[in-house]
Amino acid sequence: AFRVSVRDAPTVPRRPRRAAAPVTRELPSAHPLDGPFRNAPDTDPADPAAARWAAAAVAGPPRVVAPTALTTTAEVDAAVARAVAAGPQWAATPPRERARVLARAADLLEAARSDLVAVMVHEAGKTVAEADPEVSEAVDFARYYARSALALEDGAVAGARFRPAGVTVVTPPWNFPVAIPVGSVLAALAAGSPVLAKPAPQTPLCGALALDAVRVALREAGAAAGVLQVVSVPEDEVGRRLVAHPDVARVVLTGSVQTAALFASWREDLDVLAETSGKNAIVVTPSADVDLAVADVVRSAFGHAGQKCSAASLLILVGAAGTSARLRRQLADAVRSLPVGPAGDLGTAMGPLVEPAAGKLLRALTTLEPGERWLVRPRRLDAEGRLWTPGVKHGVAPGSFFHVTECFGPVLGVMHARTLEEAIDLQNAVPFGLTGGLHSLDEREIDTWLDRVEVGNAYVNRHITGAVVQRQPFGGWKASAVGPGAKAGGPHYVAQLGAWSDSPDVP
Ligand code: SER
Repeated sequence: AFRVSVRDAPTVPRRPRRAAAPVTRELPSAHPLDGPFRNAPDTDPADPAAARWAAAAVAGPPRVVAPTALTTTAEVDAAVARAVAAGPQWAATPPRERARVLARAADLLEAARSDLVAVMVHEAGKTVAEADPEVSEAVDFARYYARSALALEDGAVAGARFRPAGVTVVTPPWNFPVAIPVGSVLAALAAGSPVLAKPAPQTPLCGALALDAVRVALREAGAAAGVLQVVSVPEDEVGRRLVAHPDVARVVLTGSVQTAALFASWREDLDVLAETSGKNAIVVTPSADVDLAVADVVRSAFGHAGQKCSAASLLILVGAAGTSARLRRQLADAVRSLPVGPAGDLGTAMGPLVEPAAGKLLRALTTLEPGERWLVRPRRLDAEGRLWTPGVKHGVAPGSFFHVTECFGPVLGVMHARTLEEAIDLQNAVPFGLTGGLHSLDEREIDTWLDRVEVGNAYVNRHITGAVVQRQPFGGWKASAVGPGAKAGGPHYVAQLGAWSDSPDVP
């Protein structure tokens, strides 16, 4: 669906729009860095102009510049050498100037919104409703981390000096193929490090188009080309060379626990900062608002077909909530009525998987473990195995395969607990600790749960995906994180991408 060009594009590629006037939104330069941070607004789906805008966006995919392919270890070495050479000048660029580059990248990303949505729909199978807020998140990361760069400067004024980590390799995932590469790259750039970014092999064009906005902002500011290189590498010794290169100071990974372990096995002293897997549960107590709980569970479990590290994979019903016919019926009806189809159809709520279901996910979609039964049985809709209707299984047993295994797809497992304490035990009895939810209208229950739940992002009476920059800094505990652990989109994220030295005696 794409025209891919491997030469350098002079600007963020634009597509002539014939079909409809774009939705007007307040744009560029209205964002002085010193002003308060504000989240970028999503496109309002209720606006008729927005529907025309979205239809036009997905109808005509843009031209995208593919990442530079590094095919040999010698090419990897040369790319790392370019980054090393560009490092000192970028590190010496005052944080305020680096912040300006980020603020400019935010405006360029906002201006490229419809192209970014189109590429996510076509390459990643995201619906417009999921892709549009992802652009907002990328813009938010840029504006937020710009302010984090200013904070580094304030630290220097106060007598503490910040030294960036140095050459940073960023390996983002395919499930947030715009926001995560943009956020990870811009954080490292805000800290003053040169970056080699390797978009996920499933979504190279999403990463390339998004990071092109950053490259343009860097080039306009006169930064050397080595400050940001967007590359692809084969997953063999060439890829290994990139991650394990002795001149790479840090690797920022968002991916699976297995990938983090593989990277660590390649180089003993590798400095990895990783956001890894999750097995996330929402607990619903008898005091909950059932309408709200069902809506939040369905959104958390089946948004982007469940392919989010933050997704709800388990629903733990406490006491009478577990025997509530109303809750069960509402959940089944809501799941059965989710429109499944091509991501580009604006009526679709759940699009295709990024790859055909296999392994753990295929097992979860097609097999019942002892004690389980289908409340809603998933169905495969295409020959390839990418398009499935969502499934809900009841009777997931403590300690079973589905209780503790991340499956990353459109299946929700329901468990039962006699008490809230027991529900929290089940929620905590997984290796991961990324997101978790509680639906309860009882203050004591909420307090108990917040005191005991072992997750980085604990949401009360809210869906558990879609963390918002600044308001819900994102990151996990336990096997969901590797490294210092400051959260993405939070106040300490950039400051952990380097080292501080204090010299209080210097006047
Ligand atoms: N930040 C995303 C979310 O909250 C996951 O990466 O859903």
